[in-house]
Amino acid sequence: MNNFDFYNPTHIAFGKDRVGDLSRLVPASAKVLILVGGASAEKNGTLAEVRQALGTRTHSTFSGIEPNPSFETAMKAVDLVRQEGFDFLLAVGGGSVIDATKFIAAAVPFEGDAWNILLQRGSNITHAVSFGVVLTLPATGSEMNNGAVITRHDISAKLPFRSPHLFPKFSILDPTKTYTLPVKQLANGVVDAFVHTMEQYLTYPVNAPLQDRFAEGLLQTLVEIGPRLLTATEPDYDDRASLTWAATLALNGLIGAGVPQDWATHMIGHELTAQYNIDHARTLAIVLPAMLHERRAQKHDKLLQYGQRVWGICEGTEDERITAAIDATRDFFERMGLPTRLSAYDLGQDAIDLMIQQLEAHGMTKLGEHGDITPAASRRVLVAAL
Ligand code: NZQ
Ligand code: ZN
Repeated sequence: MNNFDFYNPTHIAFGKDRVGDLSRLVPASAKVLILVGGASAEKNGTLAEVRQALGTRTHSTFSGIEPNPSFETAMKAVDLVRQEGFDFLLAVGGGSVIDATKFIAAAVPFEGDAWNILLQRGSNITHAVSFGVVLTLPATGSEMNNGAVITRHDISAKLPFRSPHLFPKFSILDPTKTYTLPVKQLANGVVDAFVHTMEQYLTYPVNAPLQDRFAEGLLQTLVEIGPRLLTATEPDYDDRASLTWAATLALNGLIGAGVPQDWATHMIGHELTAQYNIDHARTLAIVLPAMLHERRAQKHDKLLQYGQRVWGICEGTEDERITAAIDATRDFFERMGLPTRLSAYDLGQDAIDLMIQQLEAHGMTKLGEHGDITPAASRRVLVAAL
């Protein structure tokens, strides 16, 4: 196992009827700006519950944070926070609202052009406004980590950043808040959490059996509940609870501590979203099977372990078992309703040329756990995904 630091100060309040806990979790004297996306939090009553729990605290609401949140919209909230003097932010939503809130929290006290936060991947953040989360969409793990991804439309860039100052103070995870999610978002959530686990697990062995088994447990849980989530006629509390906790644990630092990490699939996926507005998880479903195929030599040992322990693949030559493990992954994404080919989005060779240009423009030229996924290797991955 490699050396590591593990720091995660986020307080989790998990379970039914936990929104009321805001009354004790938000500082009593806070002046609160609630941040939401489109209409969902208002429509399903979550926003009303949140406002009630805030009691006599001064609060206001900023709405309109879009999926794949934009720099442009977030900067409007930054102006509002500065003008009105809000000192606590409360994200009510999924990964997009939480990520935008992280950016706003960092940008409010930031001096100079806030886009520099993205250009320096957050290393220039020295402090941030405090914030908490009410999660409505389990997928990204943003509710218990210190990272975020922001899009800037004028230059078609979608860039990640992180900072030790950007952990939520608390996150309320009430699985019943997922009941109004469309099936498509549930499927996206399962696949995003699955790929987060793979990015930290499917690299090369470093004698970290505990992290491996945590990761395999998450993958097996997602494989078990995923199809049920799609077909259930009524939401099942236990399956929603399992999805919520699995998605949080998949990216809160636990399974990635002391092991190599990949993230090449995510970096290529972000370019697909920035250019073609494909949902985040859907880009991952396109890239990951092709990535595993392209990297089957470098990932040989872990692919065999994954095949055996997650999919029960024990027969055939090593090569055949690796192929079967990759096929099982592709089949799982397809069963979840996420296409695994660029052609499903009418994208071909022209798109690949543009993707490679964008990866180069964003410095994404040495990706993967070995730092050897060059633009030429990314091109092979995308060609394999045609
Ligand atoms: O905008 P509203 O009306 O709220 O609707 C949202 C949105 O349209 C809807 N929704 C959310 N909760 C709902 C609901 N609809 C009905 N009932 C509810 N309870 O769902 C739609 C998608 O929401 P969004 O927040 O965009 O989805 P997700 O949670 O998948 O977040 C995706 C973003 O997170 C980033 C992605 O790149 C993308 O920008 N990621 C963040 C990460 C992180 N911070 O660690 C890691 C991930 O890899 C990912 O990159
Ligand atoms: Zn993701």
